[in-house]
Amino acid sequence: MPLPAKAPETEGGAGALPRHVAIIMDGNGRWAKQRFLPRIAGHRAGVEAVRRVTRAARTLGIEALTLYAFSSENWRRPDEEIGDLMGLLRIFIRSDLDEMVRENVRLRVIGNYHRFSADIVAMVDDALARTLVNDGPILVIALNYGSHAELAAAARDLAQQAIDGKIDVSAIDEAAIERQLDTSDLPPLDLMIRTSGEHRLSNFLLWQAAYAELHFAETLWPDFDEAALAEAVASFGRRQRRFGGL
Ligand code: FPP
Repeated sequence: MPLPAKAPETEGGAGALPRHVAIIMDGNGRWAKQRFLPRIAGHRAGVEAVRRVTRAARTLGIEALTLYAFSSENWRRPDEEIGDLMGLLRIFIRSDLDEMVRENVRLRVIGNYHRFSADIVAMVDDALARTLVNDGPILVIALNYGSHAELAAAARDLAQQAIDGKIDVSAIDEAAIERQLDTSDLPPLDLMIRTSGEHRLSNFLLWQAAYAELHFAETLWPDFDEAALAEAVASFGRRQRRFGGL
């Protein structure tokens, strides 16, 4: 069977810059605990880190930054914490949307955010609409996102298209699946970062991360800053990517 000739991801090595970076922002709770503060204080500090890192990514020239803000598994947290996270999302959109518009940022959302409360859905839709015409760096927020759900939805869509006679079953190849994913119009994922010393992907961009470089930082998310992002990007630039070749 002929192999796809493409290796669309950034080659890596020689100081290459990743086009698309994704971050699992972990450690807010532990950051708060170390300071004898409630968990919400860690999430609040986490939003500050989001601001710092999104600005730093723009300065570095990264095309797309995807942040795991709320996973489909985060519903298992206590109601109070879920409410706190939703509150922070509202504050973030309210306070940072103007800057995104001004800085030519294209805001995108992956995940089924329609499960959120109606006011958040309306705020997100408004933010998406206001940044739609922008053509600068892309900021992707993952809201109620989970890779398994994303892949199951892709399978359902393709099956329905086949039943409706719109596609032939034999046309369901890797490219067809990719076209169904929430990330279909984003650059290929080059670098996945997880903070707080945990070494898991936690159902985040599993398909997309097939050839991504992984960077695990010990830093808790609220302490992650411009230098930490630059270090992750520099480590990407030192790696030789082979995509299964030699
Ligand atoms: C993981 O830390 C972090 C989260 C589940 C939420 C991430 C959310 C933010 C940074 C704030 C909201 C984001 C935006 C874009 C407005 P954890 O609570 O699992 O930390 P722990 O493992 O130390 O308990």
